[in-house]
Amino acid sequence: MTTTEHSPTAAGSGASASQVFRATHSATDTAGEVSAERVDDVARALLRAVHEVIREKNVTYSEFQAAKQWLMDVGEGGEWPLLLDVFVEHVIEDVAARTQNGSVGSIQGPYYLPEQRRVDSPATLPARPDEKGEPLVLAGRVVDLDGNGVGGAELDVWHADDQGYYSGFAPDIPEGNLRAVVVADEAGWFEINTVRPAPYQIPTDGPTGNLIAAAGWHAWRPAHLHLFVQAPGYRRITTQLYFAGGDWLDSDVAEATKPELVLDPQPGEDGRLHSTYDFVLEPAS
Ligand code: DHB
Ligand code: FE
Repeated sequence: MTTTEHSPTAAGSGASASQVFRATHSATDTAGEVSAERVDDVARALLRAVHEVIREKNVTYSEFQAAKQWLMDVGEGGEWPLLLDVFVEHVIEDVAARTQNGSVGSIQGPYYLPEQRRVDSPATLPARPDEKGEPLVLAGRVVDLDGNGVGGAELDVWHADDQGYYSGFAPDIPEGNLRAVVVADEAGWFEINTVRPAPYQIPTDGPTGNLIAAAGWHAWRPAHLHLFVQAPGYRRITTQLYFAGGDWLDSDVAEATKPELVLDPQPGEDGRLHSTYDFVLEPAS
């Protein structure tokens, strides 16, 4: 994949996110297992909701045609993963959370890349020799619902750099930068060394950015770390961790923050920021 040739524009990251989505989600994920009754029920309700908005807001022909153009632009720009993850995924996650007993989750977003380097804890995420940003140490334990350590649990971590850009989606960042699968020790303890990421801005030059500007919204997500936490026999947690006092924490454009997910790292004697977080895994169903 040649995603690193793209610029950190909507065209670049949107198209890359679409490519990655196609490469990592096979059509067999769900399609084919869905009954006609389910499609009828959900599609009908969705259309009813759209019809209702048109009536309630007296949407005009010219607005309808502008919406059509915009939707075409979203597809042509490859921005469906960006758009859906920023405006819709948080509700999907809320629904998933209704049946979840382990640690609190959050959205996955469009920038996960599978098959990253595996490193045993204590681990340092792959970074450039001159990687900018405050050194950050996240340590803790992966436990089961009874508080027993889950040895060998995997923490698949990815995050933006000190400029808010993700490797694989912005130019000039080496492949796999600030991404790794960290393997906890035999008692579930882990330590991850990295740098504190910057807030992330939705690319402003594509259709998603156009909507945000046209509506007078802002395009920012607070700084965050992404994680999948998993072990055989346990339900995988998809989550994010945020930083107390950080910009946009109270107005995340993706509405994906939760109070339980906010770290408050403190400077240690080694000059690095330190934070702890424990993850609770529930059995797979
Ligand atoms: C988007 C980007 C992110 O980094 C994220 O965590 C969630 C959503 C987006 O651009 O849609
Ligand atoms: Fe993100």
